[in-house]
Amino acid sequence: MTSQPVSVQITDGVAHVRMDNPPVNALGVALREGLMDALAELEHNDDVTSVLLIGQPKAFSAGADITEFGTGTSSPTLPELVARLEDFPKPVVAAITGVALGGGLELAMAAHARVALPTAKLGLPEISLGLIPGAGGTGRLPRLVGPQRALELILGGKQISAEAALKDGLVDAVLDGVSGFETEAARWTAEFAASGEPVRTQDRTDKIADAAAKPGTVVELAATALRKVKDPFAGKAAVEAVTAGIEESFERGTVVERAKFQERLKSSESAAQRYLFAAERAARKPRNLDPAAARDVKQAGVVGAGTMGGGIAMALASAGIPVTVVEAQQEALERGLGMIEKNLSVSVSHGSRTENQAAQQRALITGTMEYADLGDADLVIEAAFEDLQVKKEIFATLDHNVKPEAVLATNTSYLNIDEIAAGTEHAERVLGMHFFSPANVMPLVEVVRGGQTSPEALATGFATARRIGKTPVVVGVCHGFVGNRMLEVRSRQAEQLLLEGALPSQVDDVLTNFGFRMGPFAMADMAGLDIGWRNRKAQGTTAPIGDALCETGRYGQKTGSGYYSYEGRERRNDPAVTEIIERVSAEHNVTRREISNEEILERLLFPMINEGARILEEKIADRASDIDVIWVKGYNWPAYRGGPMWYADQMGAAVVVERLTHYAEATGDASLRPAQALQESADGGVSLTEGA
Ligand code: 3HC
Repeated sequence: MTSQPVSVQITDGVAHVRMDNPPVNALGVALREGLMDALAELEHNDDVTSVLLIGQPKAFSAGADITEFGTGTSSPTLPELVARLEDFPKPVVAAITGVALGGGLELAMAAHARVALPTAKLGLPEISLGLIPGAGGTGRLPRLVGPQRALELILGGKQISAEAALKDGLVDAVLDGVSGFETEAARWTAEFAASGEPVRTQDRTDKIADAAAKPGTVVELAATALRKVKDPFAGKAAVEAVTAGIEESFERGTVVERAKFQERLKSSESAAQRYLFAAERAARKPRNLDPAAARDVKQAGVVGAGTMGGGIAMALASAGIPVTVVEAQQEALERGLGMIEKNLSVSVSHGSRTENQAAQQRALITGTMEYADLGDADLVIEAAFEDLQVKKEIFATLDHNVKPEAVLATNTSYLNIDEIAAGTEHAERVLGMHFFSPANVMPLVEVVRGGQTSPEALATGFATARRIGKTPVVVGVCHGFVGNRMLEVRSRQAEQLLLEGALPSQVDDVLTNFGFRMGPFAMADMAGLDIGWRNRKAQGTTAPIGDALCETGRYGQKTGSGYYSYEGRERRNDPAVTEIIERVSAEHNVTRREISNEEILERLLFPMINEGARILEEKIADRASDIDVIWVKGYNWPAYRGGPMWYADQMGAAVVVERLTHYAEATGDASLRPAQALQESADGGVSLTEGA
C-alpha cells in the first residue's frame, strides 16, 4: 500500500510496518518518506489499533544515511520523522532485530515501547563519526536509562546487547522468538495497546528527576567518560545537549542538540572520522586478494607462549577457534598459560567476559612442547623471539610437522618474511601477521604479503584476522612494514630534537596536545629502553641519548627511571636526564637552542608523511587510506585527525613539501627531502587520500 522501501501488512489490528533498505536500513530520504506515508495512511485506518515497526534480520536500522551527510538532508528529516512517530495517536512498538544504531535507535526510542531479539545490538555510535546523536537521542536516552548510563553510551559509542538494554530500561522485553519473533512481537504489541494510553518517551521524568533538580549533576557524571572520549569536541557538545535536555527541558535540549549536531557535522574532526569509516571499509577489500580463496580455519596453532603468543591465542579462542600453543620449555609454557588464565580472570572481573565465556575460551587453548601436536592446524601463527635465525629454524621445523595445506604466519614486527619463508620447502604458504601488543586487545593486524605468498595463504590470514574481530590491513615486505617503518622515522626525529635543544616532556607534550595519548618518550619508557638499545647494538646503529640513558641503567618504567623518573606510574621530569642530554649534545658539538612547539610537531609528523609517500611509491601499501587505518588502529593516532596522510591533505602537500625541504637544508639530513609521490601531490594539487 505504500512506496518501497517500506511495506505494510495489517493483521488483527496490528499494522506491521517493515523497513527494507539494504544492506543496513540506513534512514535515507526514500525510507523516511516511505515511513511518513505509511504513518499518514495508518493514522486514519480504523482497522489499525497499533503499529509494529520492524526492520530486516541484519538491521532494524544502522541510523542516518552517512552518504547523505554533506549533501544536505531533504525533508522529511530524521528529527521530523522521529517527532511524528512519537506523537502518533496509536501505540507504536519498535521490534529490534540485528542492529539499532544511531538514528535507528533514536527512531526506536521515539516509539512507545521496544522489544528486541536476544541477538540484537543497540547503541549510539555517532561519537565515532565525530558527531552527536541528532534526532532526539540526547534527550530520550537519559529519560529511558538515566543520565549516567546515557552519558556512558553516548560518549563511549559502544553497542550493547538486548539483555543489557533490558536491564537498563532501553527495551521493554526481550522475546526469544520461539514461535517467530515477529509473531511474538505482534502479540506483545496488541497487549501493550490494550493496556492503556502510552506515555511518550520525552514525557518520562522518573529517571532524570534527581539530575534535573540539581544543576551540575550531568557535567559531574560525564567527567569520567569525557576523560576517555575519543573525540573531545563531539564529547563536549553531547554533554551540553544532554545537560540542556535535563536541566532545562526536552524541547530546549532538542534545540541545543540540533545546533551542536550541525556544528559537528561541518567540523574537520567529523570529516576526518567519516573518512576513516570509509577507509576501514576500503581496507577490507585489498587489491589482488580473492576472499573466496580463504581456507576454513577449524584449528589453529601458535608458536611461543610469551606476551604476544598468549594474546594471539586468546584472540583466536575468543572467536571460538581451538588453538594449540607450542613452547620450547615447560617453565615458559606454564608461565604463558598462567598469564592467559590471569587475563581471562581479569576480563571476567571487569565484566568484558562472563565466567561462562572465559571457561569456554580456556577450554579451547591447549599447551604443548611438541610441534607434532600442530598436525591438525589449518593456520599456525609464530610469535617467538624477534630474531631471524630463531624464526627461520622454527619455520623449517613447522614445515615438517604441519599438514601440506596448512598456512604459516609469522608475527614479526620488522623482519623480512621472504627470508623466513626461504627456509621452508613451501614458501607460498608463508605470510606475515603482525599483531600489536596486547594482541587480545589491539585491533590492528598488518597482514604481510611475501614475495611468494599464495592467494590462499593471504586470504586465509586476512579472513582469520577479520573473524577474530581485528582490523587487518594488507601490506608488502619492507623493514618494519608500514607502521613501524614510519614510527622509526618519527623516533629518529624525536631523538634528534633532544640533541638539538628540546627536552623529553616538551616533545611528549606537543604530541599529547595534538591528540596522541602518549608521546614517544613516555611510550619508550613504558615499553623499555633496553630493547631498542640491544637492537641498535645488534645492527651497529646508535641513538646517542637513548644509548647514554641505558648505559646508566635507566631502562624505563621497569627500573623506575628512563627519559623520566617514576614513582609507581607517576612520571616526573628528572634533572639527571637534562644533564645527560646536555652532555651528549656537547659531545656531539651541538649548540643547543630553543625549539618551538611548531617545529617539534612538524619535525615529528612531516617525515612520517614523507615515509608514507615512499611506502606508496614502493606499493608497500595499496592506498594512502590504508596507512591512515594502520596509524589510527595500531598507534593511537587521534581519529579526529584522520591519520597522517589525511592530515597531510588537509595541510596541503605543498606545505609539507616546503617544510620538509626547509628542514632537510637546515639539518643537513637528506632523508628529509620530499618523496616523489609527495612532490607530485603538491605539484598536481591531487590529494594523497583521494578515492579512499
Ligand atoms: N549509512 C550509509 N551506509 C551505511 C551505514 C549508514 N549508516 N552503515 C553502514 N553502511 C554501509 C557501509 O558503508 C557498507 O557499504 P559497502 O558495502 O559499500 O562498503 C555497508 O553498509 C555494510 O556495512 P559494513 O561493511 O560496515 O557491514 P558490517 O556488517 O560489518 O557492519 C554495521 C554493519 C554495524 C551497521 C556498521 O556498518 C556500522 O557500524 N554502521 C554505522 C552505524 C552508525 O555509525 N550509525 C550512526 C550514523 S549517524 C546518525 O545516525 C546520526 C543521527 O544521530 C542523526
